Formats: sequence, structure tokens, C-alpha cells
Amino acid sequence: MNANVDVTNVVLKTNRLILRPFNEDDLEDLFEYASVEGVGERAGWKHHENIAETTQILEMFIKEKKTFAVVLKENNKVIGSIGIEKYGREESLSEFFDYKGREIGFVLSKDYWGQGLMPEALKGVIEYCFNELDYDFLLCGHFDFNTQSARVQEKLGFIPYRRLLFETRMDTQEKGILSLLVNPHKNIEFQFSHPETLLIK
Ligand SMILES: CC(C)(COP(=O)(O)OP(=O)(O)OC[C@H]1O[C@@H](n2cnc3c(N)ncnc32)[C@H](O)[C@@H]1OP(=O)(O)O)[C@@H](O)C(=O)NCCC(=O)NCCS
Repeated sequence: MNANVDVTNVVLKTNRLILRPFNEDDLEDLFEYASVEGVGERAGWKHHENIAETTQILEMFIKEKKTFAVVLKENNKVIGSIGIEKYGREESLSEFFDYKGREIGFVLSKDYWGQGLMPEALKGVIEYCFNELDYDFLLCGHFDFNTQSARVQEKLGFIPYRRLLFETRMDTQEKGILSLLVNPHKNIEFQFSHPETLLIK
């Protein structure tokens, strides 16, 4: 089942990054990376055309209390986001009914790709979800063409779980893979029964 989350007042620190809730002052930084074509599109949303669009998204981030701003310590700039999102198809992914979890979504400013920053940030968020929120599992998806995201998930220990057709926020559909990470501190043995489960041996 989808578990509760509220990141208000939560601040996580990693070697190079601070993860904290978004606030109104983040508008310019958010627009700077979200308006670059080919960044959001890899995560299923269209790049922002104007600051009004970014304002709406920022208000949503603040109101929904489930998204961390990824802040680079060295210049105190917001360079990305990580959302602890509700996973879809809750009814049909029946193996998770009795367990607590969510789906992680993320994006990083193109200027900072390739330095291992997102894996570093996600490691912090994963530890928070498993150690503080006591989640049993996390899901994470990527489109087939998004090899960078696939690689990040692989580095963090996510295991491909199902091939799915994802609905994007651009009213399109993309083939992709949903991957699973189980809380390593718990002794959970999921019962996978769906014929399309990649984890059935
Ligand atoms: C996916 C994303 C968050 C990766 O973040 P990152 O901090 O660059 O991740 P890494 O530095 O670990 O790089 C991951 C892989 O991308 C590839 N890569 C690195 N730099 C790259 C670059 N400049 N351009 C293209 N690919 C690159 C490498 O294969 C790397 O794997 P390696 O470490 O084994 O060499 C980032 O590319 C991004 O924001 N993409 C757009 C949004 C998105 O895809 N979100 C995820 C939706 S599921």
C-alpha cells in the first residue's frame, strides 16, 4: 500500500548535498533546470515554457509535502528534486497490499549530470524512507530509452520488477520498467504471482 509521507522540517545531508523541502525562494533555480528541453521529458513531463508554469509546480511541491529540493552545498543552489510519490496501479500490484512503500521520482539539472550526485542524493532519501519512515519497499520506474536513470537505479540496488506501459504527463505512453528495492533491514519475502513479474525465477 502507499504509505504516508510528510517532509516538512526534514533536512537530510550527504557529502555534497542538502535535501530539504522546497520553498518560495526556489522559483528561479527550479525554472532554470526545469525549462531545459530534454530533462523533464526523460521523466515524463514537458520542460517548462515560462515562469508561471514553474510557479504552479513549486506551489504544488510546497503543498503536497512529498518532494525534496536537492541543494548543492558548494553554491547553495537547487539543482534537482526527489519526490516520494504514490505508486500507481495500487490495486493490481497486489503483492504490495500488506506492505508500506512508495515510488521515488527524480530529476537533476543537466549542468550537473555525470558526477554521481543523484545516486548520492537518492541514497540519503532511501535511508530516510527505510530507517525513519520504516517503509518496507520502494519502487522506481524508468522509460526504456532512459539508460541514465536505469543505471542510477541499478547502482542503488533496485531490481527490475515489471515491464509496464507508463502514462506520461504529456498524454503519451512510454514503455518502461518498474524496479523494486526491499528494505534490507527487514526480512520480507514478497510472494510474486503475476505471470509478467520479472522476479519470478
Ligand atoms: C537520471 C539522472 C538523475 C542521473 O543523475 P546523475 O547524477 O547524472 O547520475 P550519475 O552521475 O550516476 O550518472 C548515471 C549514468 O549516466 C551516464 N552519464 C553520465 N554523464 C552523462 C551525461 N553527461 N550525459 C549522458 N549520460 C551520462 C553514465 O552512464 C552514468 O553511469 P556510470 O556512473 O556508471 O558511468 C539525470 O540524468 C537526470 O536528471 N535525467 C533527466 C530526468 C530523469 O531521467 N529522471 C529519472 C526519471 S525515471
